[in-house]
Amino acid sequence: MAERSAKWLQDNAAYLEKISNLSFENRRWNKRSLAETRDFLGPWRHNIRLPFGVYTAHVPDHYPSHQVIMRVINHHLDGGFAGKRIVDIGCLEAYFAAECALQGAEVLGIDGKAINIKKCEFVKSALGIETISFAEDDAMNVTRRKYGRFDVSLVLGLLYHLDDPFTFLKNMADLTEEFMVLETHVGLPGTPRTLRGGWRPELSGMKRFKRGGRTYEGRTYREFDRGTSQVFKDLSSTASLTNDLSIWLSDESLVDLLHDVGFEATFRYMFPRDREDLWWSDMRRDARVLMVAVRKQRPLRSRIFGKAR
Ligand SMILES: C[S@@+](CC[C@H](N)C(=O)[O-])C[C@H]1O[C@@H](n2cnc3c(N)ncnc32)[C@H](O)[C@@H]1O
Repeated sequence: MAERSAKWLQDNAAYLEKISNLSFENRRWNKRSLAETRDFLGPWRHNIRLPFGVYTAHVPDHYPSHQVIMRVINHHLDGGFAGKRIVDIGCLEAYFAAECALQGAEVLGIDGKAINIKKCEFVKSALGIETISFAEDDAMNVTRRKYGRFDVSLVLGLLYHLDDPFTFLKNMADLTEEFMVLETHVGLPGTPRTLRGGWRPELSGMKRFKRGGRTYEGRTYREFDRGTSQVFKDLSSTASLTNDLSIWLSDESLVDLLHDVGFEATFRYMFPRDREDLWWSDMRRDARVLMVAVRKQRPLRSRIFGKAR
């Protein structure tokens, strides 16, 4: 999507206004109205199967990386979604939020872009899910004080769009009771110029970031050129909200930071390198990791030393 003329800005501001006026409450859908609304809100990044054989992304496939993320959540919950409170921050079109709600959890999806929240409300209405709600908000405002505590937090494809991952992760440790699933790009010393899909992100050299007496390493990533209009940013549905630069921490700094803010242990998921359909099978090539940060592990009383740790 390229930002163009004053006319482009005007037309797209009008499109965003139209979208914000849509309401799906108590709506009864048929195949045609589902497909028309899907197309009006599109293009879609999450593929979700709606009723009447309609798919948000026009393909009847379940994306492999999305399947793996859901299996990771399921595994760490021991299959027990029922009774859990889950927050999905940067929920985009609500695939993960909707799947968790349909598995039995009570879910809050949060995203900073009005167009994404409208898509989420469409998915909720089309699938008739009662146990899901959405909030349009900046991830930086997501605190325990504002939204309460959650058993599980999902931070998928979001962290690398933030310019202050330090405060954000501190807030996550504060509101997460059990574990956080973190899927993100990382800024590594040898990050290749071209990533998956031919994407060439504009990355700085390796930098040091000092926070709370600690030094973390990573790169900055340019999301938008200086002076990009807010309309263009609002329509860039998978990018940052307002910040032109964001921070990609290295995998090692990320683990240090997770520990520093209060997560007791971090799992990093690894896959064989020939699983090229997955985003994390080669961290050096794709600069991407899938982690689970556990807030508190179950205590173990040593039979030998007797202490619970
Ligand atoms: C790359 S998409 C990832 C979406 C989804 N979680 C996934 O894994 O497929 C990034 C999402 O984060 C949202 N986002 C980016 N910066 C945000 C911020 N500061 N606050 C709230 N949402 C943000 C975007 O609107 C978008 O929905």
